[in-house]
Amino acid sequence: MFRSSSALNRFASVVILGSIILSFNLQAAAQEKVQLSVDTSKPGSKIDRNIFGQFAEHLGYGVYEGIWVGPDSKIPNTRGIRNDVVAALKALKVPNVRWPGGCFADEYHWRKGIGTRAVTLNPNWGGVVEPNTFGTHEFMDFIDQIGSEAYLSVNVGSGTPQEAAEWLEYLTTPQPTTLQKERAANGHPGPYKIPMLGIGNESWDCGGNMTPDYYLRQLTIYSRFVRNYNPAQLEKDQMQKIAVGPGGGEARWTEWTDTIMKAWEKRQWSWDMQGLSMHKYTVINWGNKFASVGFGEKEYGQILKETLKMEDLVAKHSAIMDKYDPQKKIALIVDEWGSWYAPSPGSNPGFLVQQNSIRDAVLAALNLNIFARHADRVRGANIAQMINVLQAMIMTDKEKMVLTPTYHVFKMYVPFQDGTFIPVSFNAGTYTNGDITLPRVDAIAAKDTSGKLWLELTNVDPNNAVEIEANISGINATSATGETLTAPKVDSVNTFDAPNAVKPKPISVKVQGNKLTIKLEPKSVTVVSIS
Ligand code: AHR
Repeated sequence: MFRSSSALNRFASVVILGSIILSFNLQAAAQEKVQLSVDTSKPGSKIDRNIFGQFAEHLGYGVYEGIWVGPDSKIPNTRGIRNDVVAALKALKVPNVRWPGGCFADEYHWRKGIGTRAVTLNPNWGGVVEPNTFGTHEFMDFIDQIGSEAYLSVNVGSGTPQEAAEWLEYLTTPQPTTLQKERAANGHPGPYKIPMLGIGNESWDCGGNMTPDYYLRQLTIYSRFVRNYNPAQLEKDQMQKIAVGPGGGEARWTEWTDTIMKAWEKRQWSWDMQGLSMHKYTVINWGNKFASVGFGEKEYGQILKETLKMEDLVAKHSAIMDKYDPQKKIALIVDEWGSWYAPSPGSNPGFLVQQNSIRDAVLAALNLNIFARHADRVRGANIAQMINVLQAMIMTDKEKMVLTPTYHVFKMYVPFQDGTFIPVSFNAGTYTNGDITLPRVDAIAAKDTSGKLWLELTNVDPNNAVEIEANISGINATSATGETLTAPKVDSVNTFDAPNAVKPKPISVKVQGNKLTIKLEPKSVTVVSIS
């Protein structure tokens, strides 16, 4: 189309003026400081290290290849457990590992995984053969190698109370029973420590499609008879029994929480529980899930908006629990959470393989911060899952291993384990893309077990840096150091060919007169320590 030069000039001036205004707005947004107040004189609850728990189900390459390669493998291993994975996980100080599922747990029969192994099937996950070469002793060896603890899920769906009770006797009795002798013959004379026991999994769905009342009957029976006999756990460090809890915020889930908690309040001496589980995945459209890589800013915002629903869900179920348990004796254990995307192209859809991007790193930080803010009630959480499945820490391909952006977030958060929550107040501002508006900034603070102050800062905005000015009161802050995790694109990932594309780097922090100034890069997770 012909345009006169003067018309073109006018058009060009409008475009230039428009771009100046736009860039001014962007710069204004970028330069707008976020003021934060950190008040160390008002400490809150302990951030239970168990909120950094992991989940390892017999699913796809999560256990077989991810953890277990067998003693005869060329992949360096210790008693069949791969050394590279153990070394990487040790650095995360994983507090507990939930095993063997998941849906798998309600079809797991522990006897098939000790002594001479039975080859069975895994109908939930791809219908593949389950060799049972990774069983009870191998799991306990694995958690021992990584310095973690056991969170076992017993089979309520297709097992019996007797089967579960015998598993716990096999694991924990020091007395010379037939089961203890069998354990000793299998290489472990002394009792194992089992700090956490899940009674079923998603019993409202893959765990047997039970009604709340039906499940409640199972819970009381299992709670009564499945005992831990380890002398070291009889008085202190008693095993926590965790009941199946809700999987969402709808009426069927609030009814579930209400039923279990009401019964617990009125319980008789013969049963008890110490935790209620909750599952919440970040997923949009179960029938046509989002891609884990190759997406744009729109999908970045949509997924983060979805993940922030964790806040309301925790608040909703905590409120029901408060009605029956105002002293917060029962922990809410979010023992399955994380992103759930479409299977990676070419992978077995039953194996739940997906990539892990900087979006997942931001998602992980936002969820961990929600758990920390609810630390009085949320005293456990298990990201799904540890290796090669869903929002994994680690991905392997035969002998190769890569650490994901989510792994780096968990490593950066290690100082928060068992730290004391310190309140942070700030005006988060907003980040908007189309019809999605999100808080631009998130932050938590804690004093670690040695008394050192740590601050976590998340910049959700994928385009603009944010300058933070943090006023610290209650301590004399003179220096700060930290690390930040960011990436060039919203879907940047680590691959076997480029394993360090997304990894933390040092960040500089100015400290003057108890005030910290720090510039957060777009889409970043930052952790600083303050002395
Ligand atoms: O983590 C994958 C599956 O998701 C688990 O087995 C199940 O509990 C949940 O539905």
